[in-house]
Amino acid sequence: MQIRDALETDLQGITDIYNHAVAHTTAIWNEREVDLENRRTWFNDRAAAGYPILVAFNGTDVLGYASFGDWRAFDGFRHTVEHSIYVRADQHGQGIGRALMEALITRARLIGKHVMVAGIEAGNAGSIHLHEKLGFKQVAHMPQVGTKFGRWLDLAFLQLTLDTRDDPDGIGQRQ
Ligand SMILES: CC(C)(COP(=O)(O)OP(=O)(O)OC[C@H]1O[C@@H](n2cnc3c(N)ncnc32)[C@H](O)[C@@H]1OP(=O)(O)O)[C@@H](O)C(=O)NCCC(=O)NCCS
Repeated sequence: MQIRDALETDLQGITDIYNHAVAHTTAIWNEREVDLENRRTWFNDRAAAGYPILVAFNGTDVLGYASFGDWRAFDGFRHTVEHSIYVRADQHGQGIGRALMEALITRARLIGKHVMVAGIEAGNAGSIHLHEKLGFKQVAHMPQVGTKFGRWLDLAFLQLTLDTRDDPDGIGQRQ
């Protein structure tokens, strides 16, 4: 199993994993499945922003993927990203999620990001456990801010601070 940047040829595998999560889980709070063109647009948008999409690949299949984008679309949030991670349902529990997350954290540090945010359905024990093992700390629990499958969903926010710099833009003391 190899972790690498996604290629356009990975998009069908990514779409299938995404749609499975839409149809069967509360990991993503969408109810509509997407087509390949939707994921192609997302792929191009991430590339244009300079943000990675990583895949776990076994030589033939995409086993999982992870990516991040801007957390909020205001200038002041520019050093914070929010990520998503999905491992194919028949591949859970083999270390793929952890490997993808470690690679994604490295990439966030490499491009100078300061904080990674995970918004996780509060009942998703597996994802919360994985994130806590990687050093993420829960900073918020928002009751009943979502719904899927006819019930309310709580959202937990976890964050990982990636460095200890005092100067956000690394340009020294301003007047
Ligand atoms: C959450 C998810 C990404 C974890 O990926 P994974 O490849 O199954 O996880 P790993 O095998 O790398 O396990 C990492 C750690 O999490 C733990 N873990 C994984 N799934 C778990 C579960 N369902 N319950 C409890 N712990 C779990 C593992 O035991 C391991 O902990 P350890 O290091 O203490 O042994 C994967 O289950 C998934 O894609 N789920 C559906 C989509 C989703 O929930 N995405 C996250 C949205 S925020």
